Amino acid sequence: MTKKEAKEKNESLTKILNKANEDYYLYDMPTLADSEFDDYMHQLIELEKEYPEFLKDTSPTQKVGGAPLVLFSTYTHRYPLLSLSNAFSGEDLDSFNGRCEKTLEKTELQYIGELKIDGLSIALIYQKGKLVVGATRGDGFIGENVTHNVRMIKDIPLELPVPIDLEIRGEVYMDNDTFVKLNKERVEAGLAEFRNPRNGAAGSLRQLDSKETKKRHLSSFFYEITYLKGKDIETQEEALEYLESLGFSTNKDRLLGSIEEMIAFCETIVEKRGHLSYGIDGVVIKVNNIRDQIELGSTTKSPRWAIAYKFPPEQQITKVEDISISVGRTGVLTPVAELTPVLIGGSVVSRASLHNEDYIKEKDIRAGDYVVIQKAGDVIPEVVKVVLDRRQEDLVPFVFPTRCPVCNSPVIRIAGEAGHRCTGELYCPAQWVKGLIHFASREAVDIDGLGEKIVELFVNEKLISNPGDIYRLKKDDIEKLEGFREKSANNLVEAISKSKQRGLGPLLFAFGIPLVGNKSAKVLARYFRTMGALLKAKKEEFLNVEDVGEKMADSLVRFFSEERNRKIIEDLKNQGVMMEETFVLKGSIFKGKTIVLTGTLPHYDRKEMMKLIEDYGGKVSTSVSKKTDYVLAGSEAGSKLEKANKLGIEVLDEEGLLKLLNKEA
Ligand code: IVH
Repeated sequence: MTKKEAKEKNESLTKILNKANEDYYLYDMPTLADSEFDDYMHQLIELEKEYPEFLKDTSPTQKVGGAPLVLFSTYTHRYPLLSLSNAFSGEDLDSFNGRCEKTLEKTELQYIGELKIDGLSIALIYQKGKLVVGATRGDGFIGENVTHNVRMIKDIPLELPVPIDLEIRGEVYMDNDTFVKLNKERVEAGLAEFRNPRNGAAGSLRQLDSKETKKRHLSSFFYEITYLKGKDIETQEEALEYLESLGFSTNKDRLLGSIEEMIAFCETIVEKRGHLSYGIDGVVIKVNNIRDQIELGSTTKSPRWAIAYKFPPEQQITKVEDISISVGRTGVLTPVAELTPVLIGGSVVSRASLHNEDYIKEKDIRAGDYVVIQKAGDVIPEVVKVVLDRRQEDLVPFVFPTRCPVCNSPVIRIAGEAGHRCTGELYCPAQWVKGLIHFASREAVDIDGLGEKIVELFVNEKLISNPGDIYRLKKDDIEKLEGFREKSANNLVEAISKSKQRGLGPLLFAFGIPLVGNKSAKVLARYFRTMGALLKAKKEEFLNVEDVGEKMADSLVRFFSEERNRKIIEDLKNQGVMMEETFVLKGSIFKGKTIVLTGTLPHYDRKEMMKLIEDYGGKVSTSVSKKTDYVLAGSEAGSKLEKANKLGIEVLDEEGLLKLLNKEA
């Protein structure tokens, strides 16, 4: 890469990452997958290491994720906004009660149970009865000042009936109806949907334009007074009542009672949650008496006087309207349940991956079935089981397609693997991008400058769809595209031309034949030496090659017998791509011999010795058997040496091996 190219790459990566950060943090609308983000970030870190002169303070690599956005001013909380420790069962709640009783040295404590609405925490500050600050939680210590947007939330009073100084905490959320309506509008406007009401609320509160926040119809409820002078509040119940009297919304689904009653309350809420008009992710149980709360105190993370009872994942029943097949970039076919849309845990679910044929068979999922859906880890919906009572008689078991729905190539199920694959690796439109990126990659034909983004661009511009097209690219075609100039177009054409000479091994690897990795491609190329020989080879011949087992031999036979693949090979040949093995032996003393290495050699490391042996026609194997011709033993050789002696195999040391080579030279 030239310095100029590095600079350009730096700029484009910075742009991509800044936009992704903005989408994530400002709009709560991730537009890049985590893995893609990490990949770009990694590329930028590496680039900045190599060219430190491009590293700026403002680089995305220098920012701490999740820190408050610079677009809003920050607000330092007077008391940090803590989080809550979690309980998942009645026993967890019992032990929470036990801990409180022990510290307070009394029994029969009174608790208050409140719904835990899934929104985003907010702190409000009133001075002399007027709203002066509304701030998000941020990292718990420093949040964002979003006062201008908080003023747009209808149920938050701008002025209190009494001129007091007050600081309170609560939650801003979006109810289910508003969420569904907003997403519908977004789809119509061509915008990405919010994943769930929580993201919807966060995105709406963190708008630069408060008119936009107003349109989003957010709601709020408040549950804690953190600062109030001149009024004694003795219990959480009283605090909620006082908040109500000031005009704040508080959640009415609450209960006062013993821990046993709290446990029963949690169970009734689990039943009720699907019927609420907003999403909740649990129940918060709090010690009611404020003096007790103070005595119990907090850890650095959470108060000891409260606990969140978290719900098991929410389930809903819906219908599988169809089972469709999606073809991934690697050619793997994934069956997907197309569902009658249903709201689960606050977001609409209309598709669920069915993973593979075995999964469908095991659960016997059929198109037309009613199924129980749950959201695992809060985001990915999954089919739990079929509701057999509701199955209609005429539903037929799912049959996995034998042809790819995108390119009509035969579909194979690789022995031992659960997934099905499309065999059109070189021409299936679903696989174009992935296949071409692989083709051009370093270990394959190594076209410098033809990376992921450029391949995507060329495919989108309909310039390339198969490997032969790469060699038909003209400087003029490339130069016209965004991001290219005469020089960069020239460089790419040159790199493409150079890649014609890589030889048979890299080319074979470039085809992306299932199970044929870099090393196997090299071994195959050395064995067959020409593409012609590979095209003619029978399964038995493939099996003669070391390292090639049944599955790989089948994969190779399948690939080379496919007419469309032969055409692509023919096309590449016509474009002048070299189809012979370039590797020349230095000698042939080890031709057809298998050598096993064991122990540490005095001068050569394992890799160097392997290369040396291969240069003289030999093959290196890892285990000693009757087929082994020599064992090359260094110091601390173990069981392999023992086995060699047992089988009567000739043992050499480094010096002995080098002497054999010298004899030939
Ligand atoms: S009390 C010291 N009560 O849950 C923290 N929190 O997981 C006291 N939340 O950040 C929190 N409903 O945003 C409390 N009724 C409720 C709540 C509630 C929702 C949220 C809150 C907090 C998070 C902790």
